This record gives sequence, C-alpha cells and structure tokens, in this order.
Amino acid sequence: MKIKRVLRWSALFILLLAVLALLVAYVTSTNNCDRISRFTGAGMKAVIRCDYGSPDALKVADVQKPAPGPDEILVKVRAASVNPLDWHMMEGTPYLMRIGTGLRKPTDVFLGVDYAGTVERVGSNVTQFTPGDDVFGGRDGALAEYICVRADHAVVRKPAAVTFEQAAALPVAGVTALQGLRDKGRIAAGQKVLINGASGGVGTFAVQIAKSLGGEVTGVCSTKHIALVKSLGADRVIDYTKENFANSGVVYDLILDNVGTQPLSAFRHVLSPSGRYVAIGGGGTHDQGITGPFPRILQAWLLSHFTHQKLGMMLAELNKRDLSFLAGMIESGQLKPVIDRDYKSLGQVAEAMRYLEQGHAAGKIIVNID
Ligand SMILES: NC(=O)c1ccc[n+]([C@@H]2O[C@H](COP(=O)([O-])OP(=O)(O)OC[C@H]3O[C@@H](n4cnc5c(N)ncnc54)[C@H](OP(=O)(O)O)[C@@H]3O)[C@@H](O)[C@H]2O)c1
Repeated sequence: MKIKRVLRWSALFILLLAVLALLVAYVTSTNNCDRISRFTGAGMKAVIRCDYGSPDALKVADVQKPAPGPDEILVKVRAASVNPLDWHMMEGTPYLMRIGTGLRKPTDVFLGVDYAGTVERVGSNVTQFTPGDDVFGGRDGALAEYICVRADHAVVRKPAAVTFEQAAALPVAGVTALQGLRDKGRIAAGQKVLINGASGGVGTFAVQIAKSLGGEVTGVCSTKHIALVKSLGADRVIDYTKENFANSGVVYDLILDNVGTQPLSAFRHVLSPSGRYVAIGGGGTHDQGITGPFPRILQAWLLSHFTHQKLGMMLAELNKRDLSFLAGMIESGQLKPVIDRDYKSLGQVAEAMRYLEQGHAAGKIIVNID
C-alpha cells in the first residue's frame, strides 16, 4: 500500500515538473525579431516574421547583410521557391514541431529554403567556389537578398543551361521525389508506380523521374491538371474528383503518396504483397493540429512489422550529389521543372504563400529576388 502511494505521488510530481518545465519553456520562448527589425544601415532585405501565423505576419525588413565565415560562401540570391515546409514553419503547425522551432515564437525569424544565386564572396578556407559562380541549393532563410552557406553543405554549381528559376525549383521538391523513388521506394524498371498528388511540386518531378527510371507511371490529380501530368510522361492519369484509385483494380509495386488523402488501408489494398508505400506528405497546407501526420507514420511503421509490404515515410536530405544529379537531368533534357507562378519580388512572398496554401499549385512557385 505504502509503495503504491509513493509511486502515485512520484508520478504526480514528475508530471507537475514536466508541465512546469513546458510552461517556463513556452513563456521564455522568444526570438531576436525586435533587434533585427531595428537595424539601420547598409544591409539587405529579407522576409521575416516575429510570430507564427498566416502570410499576413510576413514582412520584408532591412536586416544586416551576413558575412561569410572561413568555410562559407556569400550568395546573392536571384530566385527562391516556396514549399509546404515553409508554410508549416510560418504557421508553426503541427504544434509538435515547435519543440524544435520555438514553442511560442519561431526561434529563427527568417524563412525559406530553396534558392539559386551568384557567389559574391568566399571564406578563406573555401576552394570549391569562386566569386561569380552561379550556384543553387537549400538553406534556412533563403527568402532574402543574401545568404551565407557552408561550402561543404547542400550547394552546387548551377549549369549554364539551367535558369535561376529552374534551379530554385529543384532542391526540396526534386530531391524529395528522387530519394522517395530511388532510395526509399527502390524503383526498378518495369514496375507499376502510383504517384498520389502528381501535379504539385514533388509530384511533377516524381512523374518525370519515375519515367526516366523505367517505371510505368500512374498519376493522381484533379481534372484541371490531367493534361499537365500526361505531358510529363505519365502512362495513365486518375482524376481524383471522379475516380478513387483504390477501386481501380490495378495493383502497384510502388506508391509515392504526396498527399495522404486516403486511409493507409486504401493504399495497402492496391499495393502488391511485397510492394512499397512511401509517405512523403500528409495533411497538406492547413491546420494540422498537434501531431499532424505522425499518427499515420506510426501506424505505417507498426504495420510494416506484420506484413511483407514495406510501409514508411521519408524525410528528404539535401546533398550535393542529388542536387547535381537533378541539375544534370535538366541539362540533358530528361527533366523539366514545372513552374506555375513566378512572383517578382520579396514583397510578393506573402502572396506566394497564400497561393501555396491553397494546395493546388501546378508544379512550383518561384519568387524572383534580383
Ligand atoms: N517528407 C519530405 O521530406 C517532404 C519533402 C517535401 C514535401 N513534403 C510534403 O509533401 C507534400 C506535397 O508537397 P508539394 O510540394 O508537392 O505540395 P504542392 O505543390 O502544394 O502540391 C500539392 C498537390 O496535392 C494534390 N492534391 C490535393 N488534394 C488531392 C487529392 N485529394 N488527391 C490527390 N492529390 C491531391 C494537388 O493536386 P491538384 O491541384 O490537382 O488537386 C497538388 O498537386 C506536402 O505535404 C509537403 O509537406 C514532404
């Protein structure tokens, strides 16, 4: 009896401590937005947000221009693209992710990842790049006139045949499509591949990459994007407003799911007994509550221990090898980034985010910064 009471009080005490720690972490969660926005001097323009929220919370501020460290390069950004990832960072949802990004306010006030631009200065240890090189890659805070990037991270030379807009479209969406199909999906020539969400940023790259790797591709999209997905090489297109792919009777070796619009059981129903289901996204750009797609990911992970079907999610990892590989595909004409909208300045980022938020972009949304 006594042990039970001690255990009960100990559990309560630990719970109280955890709640208190969370409360303190929440209240003290802050950022340097005020100091950054008070900057006066010859700096640069960047998109910042002091709080989580809608695109209305975004503003273009004059901030200090970064200076490259010994292992860094300073890039003048020419074009950037926006991704659902940026939208989640802006909104701070699902709330679980705030453990890493700041509980009450975003720790990092800058936004964006994908960029393409020109090297302006290099650090003393940098040998791979010289001023004047055109480069592209992924780095936090890319929606700015300048960024500093570690030369050994995800940044590579932009081939001359690839435009700044095309290069800026590539990093997050292109690498996700490639790694989802090749690494997680282990696509093989002749396989039947279903791409759910074939007309968006990831999907338009995935259809083309899957075709180039020999897949027999079925894309799922809405009526207005059927022609686009066909033009990218899809062998078959399913209009999700008229037909449910789960009732088609066709069985796939690999499913790349960019939207998570159906229960896992629907995907398993059309997946071959040893097929692979790769969850890329789920829930889209709307309120994702506390946990977002995590319960679904957990369900897939648990289920995959009891079936020969391989069910799982992937998180793209930006690296030099895959960025160069994709740029090479554009150069050789195997891959063509689909650009839906091309906004003309940092001042239009909020508008770009509003369009992204609708969740029906045909390919990528670019922001020109030059
Ligand atoms: N795991 C990772 O590392 C990773 C990396 C990048 C992105 N993601 C995630 O992947 C998802 C897709 O990213 P994205 O850049 O491709 O987004 P996006 O450009 O906004 O595209 C969303 C696509 O979803 C389609 N869609 C909407 N409702 C649908 C439905 N009921 N059935 C089928 N398709 C539907 C839309 O097609 P229609 O316009 O034709 O309706 C649109 O093509 C996002 O959730 C993103 O967060 C994950």
